Amino acid sequence: MTVDQTRLQEFEDQFDPRRPENGRIPAQVLGFGEISAVLSIPDLDDGLAFKRMPMFENEAEVTAYTALYREEMALLEEEVGLNVAAGELVQVMGGNGRPVLYLIQPKLPAHTIVHKAIHTLSAEEEMEVFAAVLREIRQLFTFNQTHQGQLEIGLDAQLSNWAIANWENPATPLPDPIQPIYFDTNTPLLQKNGVEQLDPELFLRSAPSFLVPIVRHFFLEDVLTRYYNLHLVITDLIANLYKEQRADLVPVCIAQANTFLAETDLPHNQPITAKEVQAYYREDAFIWRLYLSLRKTDRALYRLRGKPYPYVLPEKIQR
Ligand SMILES: Nc1ncnc2c1ncn2[C@@H]1O[C@H](COP(=O)(O)OP(=O)(O)O)[C@@H](O)[C@H]1O
Ligand SMILES: [Mg+2]
Repeated sequence: MTVDQTRLQEFEDQFDPRRPENGRIPAQVLGFGEISAVLSIPDLDDGLAFKRMPMFENEAEVTAYTALYREEMALLEEEVGLNVAAGELVQVMGGNGRPVLYLIQPKLPAHTIVHKAIHTLSAEEEMEVFAAVLREIRQLFTFNQTHQGQLEIGLDAQLSNWAIANWENPATPLPDPIQPIYFDTNTPLLQKNGVEQLDPELFLRSAPSFLVPIVRHFFLEDVLTRYYNLHLVITDLIANLYKEQRADLVPVCIAQANTFLAETDLPHNQPITAKEVQAYYREDAFIWRLYLSLRKTDRALYRLRGKPYPYVLPEKIQR
């Protein structure tokens, strides 16, 4: 997997975050996460997915991020044994003179991405996928338990971050065993001796400036620590089913997760309740909806001041 940096720079030079499709080198948005947009740029390479990260202010931040990304990838692959999407970081220069970093990954087929697949899978098949994801989660939290307090990895286990690596043809039944692959690797969460290694300022950059103090004060700690807590990681994963319009699966997933939790002796293995999942989802949906609308306000303010707004924002997220 190699991408010509000159070509990527050409792409960046003509890229308009408001209209990714309309440039001389068109891009399609493959998906939105909570913090980034993932692009397909067929003119550069149709087999790749490009995660554009415009939040860096200087070279030193890029260097630190790159080192952390590599360290976490090596840990996941070699120590944890998690199947992760390969990635390459390529740096270009943004229109404002600041570095823009792209994480480039092989483009995974749409039918294999779990939050898309669950719309066509039967409840039974979906539970097989869920079980496979739980096994990966256990592997990671077993590593964390072994290195507790010294070296721990944060995992955002939402359905939209996994694909079924060994499902080649959507016309055939799901493979057995299912091999999940984790691809949301552009937020390398790593704690050393209890201290988060990812610079939280990078998160805050994409927030509207008028919100930064509030986010820093009320949300940052929570966002940065919930991914190290097995109970919360699985609650988050299940709550996500509401967003994906598969509320019907919530009760069975809770039951399966609780069997799983009861069988482990990992930290934070207390059972999950339906009430907790609902409350979690309501709060999460409210926060993200509000957050997105405030980012749009911020984008409008940039516009009024005649400044280009660097982020791609989703039009509307259905929840
Ligand atoms: N390698 C990939 N191939 C195909 N689609 C992808 C790939 N990576 C991400 N996507 C799409 O983009 C969405 C967001 O990507 P993700 O890596 O989870 O970013 P975020 O950190 O913003 O959550 C995914 O849910 C998926 O639909
Ligand atoms: Mg994601």
